Amino acid sequence: MAISSEKRARQGTTGRVSLRQPELRDGAALWRLAKDTGTLDLNSPYAYLMWCEHFAGTSVLAEVDGGPAGFVTGFRPPARPEVLFVWQVAVADEHRGLGIAGRMLDALVERLGVRAVEATVTPSNTASRKLFRGFARRRGCACREEPHLEAEHFPGRGHEPEVLFHIGPIQ
Ligand SMILES: CC(C)(COP(=O)(O)OP(=O)(O)OC[C@H]1O[C@@H](n2cnc3c(N)ncnc32)[C@H](O)[C@@H]1OP(=O)(O)O)[C@@H](O)C(=O)NCCC(=O)NCCS
Repeated sequence: MAISSEKRARQGTTGRVSLRQPELRDGAALWRLAKDTGTLDLNSPYAYLMWCEHFAGTSVLAEVDGGPAGFVTGFRPPARPEVLFVWQVAVADEHRGLGIAGRMLDALVERLGVRAVEATVTPSNTASRKLFRGFARRRGCACREEPHLEAEHFPGRGHEPEVLFHIGPIQ
């Protein structure tokens, strides 16, 4: 995937983007990418290692010039394996706005052939909301949004509620 010259100029990105399934050795890079967003709920390094080992088939790593630039981690809910539940999405700041997150999502859904995509999103996360709505638009399917996790579900204080996005049926 080549990056357009206009976006390159705006973002300073000169590289070529490639997408692949993550491996165990990528776990630390996923943890760093998540940490560097400053906004994602950061899980332990161990969690990202295990994700890369046991959920690699439902996850994707984006690289720019061979260096980690973004990821999607997902899983099939055991009772509904036709669904891809997206756990986290991150793109490094310097590579945002180039369509990398959208392409990762497209590639993952192509790879898996799932019938629906689900994710929870905080209402203030405009980029994330647009990412999932854009995916639904490209696929020509409905995007249902309903309250799901309330602030009280989380330990401590200050966590925003999360809205459940359900996108499907995907043809
Ligand atoms: C959310 C995130 C992954 C998007 O990555 P990205 O590669 O920049 O996204 P894309 O370029 O594929 O853009 C996806 C959509 O969001 C829009 N968008 C991207 N960044 C935006 C921003 N800062 N403000 C408003 N819209 C934005 C794009 O225009 C596009 O919408 P469109 O399909 O209607 O054109 C990235 O901003 C990020 O890592 N954020 C921090 C972590 C996070 O919040 N993750 C999501 C919650 S799990």
